Amino acid sequence: MTARTGCPRIDCSIVFVGLMGAGKSAIGRRLASRLGMPFVDADDEIESAAGCSISDIFELHGEAAFRDGERRVIARLLARPPHVLATGGGAFMDPETRAAIRESGISVWLRAELDLLVSRVSRRNNRPLLAGGDTYAILQRLMAERHPIYAQADIVVESRDGPHEQTVETVLGALRAHVEAGRRQPDSDSSSACIEA
Ligand code: S3P
Repeated sequence: MTARTGCPRIDCSIVFVGLMGAGKSAIGRRLASRLGMPFVDADDEIESAAGCSISDIFELHGEAAFRDGERRVIARLLARPPHVLATGGGAFMDPETRAAIRESGISVWLRAELDLLVSRVSRRNNRPLLAGGDTYAILQRLMAERHPIYAQADIVVESRDGPHEQTVETVLGALRAHVEAGRRQPDSDSSSACIEA
């Protein structure tokens, strides 16, 4: 696969983080196609590794077991050649996963307003953390807990209520700026190994 003209050339994985409903998979998939990179959805990989849905994992084994599986699956995915990875909303909260992402990728936090998240997640009922609860209150609490951690991502992009392509353009612009600034993850020795303009 080849990146389209005008797209930054990225030689490491791009990892989307952010709350449920932020658009990590939708934007990630489109970005991957723009950059000519493979796209991987961590939640899908967890489901195929477990042979059942995330809701079933939560119900049968509990959240702690899901988080263990999530950590292992993401570590395995990050060892693959460069790709665009959409992670589940809780993944970046895990210190080990955060460190692994910092090691091998550029993290992009898709940040969205609470009302937008609520309207997006309300379209489906496949998220165990929201099952049977007050979606607004739950997301509001998760926002308070998680935003300070998501803020550690390399790049922050606002996910707005508009065409996905618009957000993809914003991510591309932010990646370009990241590349041009020669920035890399703070704990890396080689500033040129990951990104080439
Ligand atoms: C979760 C988010 C979900 C999924 C699981 C837990 C979370 O992924 O991993 O239901 O803790 O926020 P999405 O963010 O893709 O909905």
